[in-house]
Amino acid sequence: MTKSNSEIAYRIGLIGSGALGLLIKGSVDAGALASASVTSVLSRSGGSLDHLIENSDIVVEAAGQAALRAHGPAIIAAGKPLVALSSGVLADDKIAGLLMGGPGRFIPSAGAIGGFDLIDTLRISGTLTNVALHTVKVPSSLLQPWMSESQKTALEENRTFINVFTGSARDATRLFPANANVAATLGVRSIGLDRTRVTIDADPSTRSTQHTLVIDSKLGTYQLTFANAPSLANPKSSDLAAFSALHDLGRLIGQTVALTATGGSQQ
Ligand SMILES: NC(=O)c1ccc[n+]([C@@H]2O[C@H](COP(=O)([O-])OP(=O)(O)OC[C@H]3O[C@@H](n4cnc5c(N)ncnc54)[C@H](O)[C@@H]3O)[C@@H](O)[C@H]2O)c1
Repeated sequence: MTKSNSEIAYRIGLIGSGALGLLIKGSVDAGALASASVTSVLSRSGGSLDHLIENSDIVVEAAGQAALRAHGPAIIAAGKPLVALSSGVLADDKIAGLLMGGPGRFIPSAGAIGGFDLIDTLRISGTLTNVALHTVKVPSSLLQPWMSESQKTALEENRTFINVFTGSARDATRLFPANANVAATLGVRSIGLDRTRVTIDADPSTRSTQHTLVIDSKLGTYQLTFANAPSLANPKSSDLAAFSALHDLGRLIGQTVALTATGGSQQ
């Protein structure tokens, strides 16, 4: 759906045109946001940061932590709101300071999980005591360059259940940069990256990526479980994360996101 210039009240700049970026762009192009259009795209195959900043009112990042680290601070410094999916960069205090310090607003999207209405409510109540995340993934999606040869072989053979990580959200994000954005978002929006506990398991029997949140507060105890179908375009990602960014865009510009024909790669 091509809009005329007078119909475009909000110009969206997009970083990344992979599985999630294309889904976000496809949805906006199909009319998901009545008065917004994607007017600038920056990816490894083209585009420039200067053009993106000059030609966008809001920027969405769906390109990975390296891209957010490289481009995010300049976008925030230019005063633009930035909806980000690769929030794992917040584990780096220096980058976190630049992104959260304004003048642009940094919005870590809920991504592949939910429950942030509850989590935000509990945070402002000051009653949160413990937050834990248990992630279960397909073994091959958890391979990391720093792993020992025997650990890599065990994950590649895809035969046994392996606990690959137990520790803080900060360390999870550092060691599993493509997998632990959820841990970082949960940590910064609840009790912090160092106090949020994370367990990551490789399970050959799983068909979905599962995240279970256990939240303890003086107001109650809560358990939320998410089982996401891996994106067909990129099995390390969940298409849900693209729709989460769209939801954030809708809230930023005060519009309800319309249902479009773009339903993600699972359909
Ligand atoms: N928060 C969440 O729950 C969640 C869930 C899934 C994915 N993610 C994040 O979203 C990112 C994108 O996921 P995807 O499945 O679309 O990945 P993808 O690999 O399919 O696509 C990545 C895109 O980013 C572009 N890119 C890479 N480095 C770049 C750079 N330095 N500058 C500009 N563009 C660059 C590539 O050209 C490509 O278009 C992931 O890397 C991950 O960090 C977050």
